[in-house]
Amino acid sequence: MEVKKAEFVCSNTRVDKLPAPNLPEYAFIGRSNVGKSSLINAMTNKKGLAKTSQKPGKTQLINHFIIDDTWYLVDLPGYGFAKASKTSRNEWEKFIRRYLTHRDNLQCVFVLVDSRLEPQKIDLDFCYWLGECGLPFMLVFTKADKQSAVKSDANIAKFKKQLLQWFEEVPTVFLTSAEKKLGHEPILETIDEVNR
Ligand code: GTP
Ligand code: MG
Repeated sequence: MEVKKAEFVCSNTRVDKLPAPNLPEYAFIGRSNVGKSSLINAMTNKKGLAKTSQKPGKTQLINHFIIDDTWYLVDLPGYGFAKASKTSRNEWEKFIRRYLTHRDNLQCVFVLVDSRLEPQKIDLDFCYWLGECGLPFMLVFTKADKQSAVKSDANIAKFKKQLLQWFEEVPTVFLTSAEKKLGHEPILETIDEVNR
């Protein structure tokens, strides 16, 4: 599936101000700087659609994009931003968790994980929380261009092994590179299947 049209709709912190939940929605979440906004731009073939930065903490709001007039893609602020104050981290917790647990049209959460890293507690804890809330999620490992496929695969295998302590089966996994435009097609195909 190729995205033909991708448009910014709005930015929000309040769940009651979001667009009407009348189209299927997919949210991208993960640590600050993991590459959420870059992935959205690569998937939609639209540079600059979602704002990216070398510095973590760029995306601060819930950003809605409408794709081909039929579904929403949502760019969320990252978690684990070390420089954020405790108050702003608590705020993040509140509005993101509220969004994730109150959005009726949310079909799937894509949790982005840096493929260069060994499993991180913060990512595993977040997956566990999604599981506890009964929210369907899939994993997207990012920045595959930064190291060998062998290393990425080893980190993915370790992550899956950790998840199997909590989950009966591991979620679907994708390996991507926004830089090299790799791995986006399978994510779009998956979304297309759910939308049908
Ligand atoms: P926050 O909004 O701050 O939470 O970050 P984010 O997860 O949206 O990350 P963003 O897309 O802004 O990317 C962060 C940095 O990583 C930028 O400098 C990107 O160019 C870089 N980056 C993202 N994806 C890739 C990738 O696949 N490969 C490489 N080499 N760099 C990437
Ligand atoms: Mg971002």
